[in-house]
Amino acid sequence: MGPAAIPHHIAIVMDGNGRWAMRRYLPRVAGHKKGVDALRACVLHCGERGVRVLTVFAFSSENWNRPQEEVSGLMELLAVALTREVPQLHAEGVRIHFVGNRAALSDKVRAGLQQAEAATASNQRLTFNICFNYGGRWDIAQAAASLAAKGEPVTEASLDRAMALSHVPDPDLLIRTGGEQRISNFLLWQGAYSELYFSDKLWPDFDEAAIDAAIADYAGRERRFGKTSEQVAPGKSKKVA
Ligand code: IPE
Ligand code: IPE
Ligand code: MG
Repeated sequence: MGPAAIPHHIAIVMDGNGRWAMRRYLPRVAGHKKGVDALRACVLHCGERGVRVLTVFAFSSENWNRPQEEVSGLMELLAVALTREVPQLHAEGVRIHFVGNRAALSDKVRAGLQQAEAATASNQRLTFNICFNYGGRWDIAQAAASLAAKGEPVTEASLDRAMALSHVPDPDLLIRTGGEQRISNFLLWQGAYSELYFSDKLWPDFDEAAIDAAIADYAGRERRFGKTSEQVAPGKSKKVA
């Protein structure tokens, strides 16, 4: 697999934690804890494979509608993970970015996010975007609102610059685990031309081999961006006699 076959930017909807736990007669939060382990392994593996940007969906704008116990469990888990995981990620050259609406988060979580970002700000090996309290519609609306507040004209380019992921190119590969085939308000704008990959594996089971399988699948895709196959890969398409 040459370097061109490695996606520059992978985005993941990490789904299936709850079902992973239920199958073991464990509380749903136990599945989210296991999901943190899978995420750590995923970040490190992406770094090893030469992926430059990893963006994960950890908590959606709609996840507030879950039982209060699960929502507070997820908030607590994020706060704990931020203190526990950052030193290793920092040592591995990972730059952490938080992406989402911070306003609704507790002071403790907000402070943890800020510290993680500040501590890893000069790292360059892998940019790791954590989408938390994120929604694609929120992102588009906040970008439009910020342009309106500045009196700037709304164009594709100006909106793009105002979006939450303006510091990275659009995702090349968008993975969703857990068997569901929907976008669930993830990167509505940025995913316009992402290659989609769906896995039936539940997120806690999505290991290094599963990531490699997704990357291998991606390597076999032809990205056309509206053009014809002949334009993007001249001479490659088989002639029909
Ligand atoms: C994804 O796992 C993690 C979050 C949404 C926080 P789920 O909790 O949605 O797992 P399932 O879909 O119920 O199995
Ligand atoms: C999407 O998963 C959000 C995250 C993975 C954080 P959900 O489990 O919330 O999505 P739906 O509700 O099944 O569409
Ligand atoms: Mg789910």
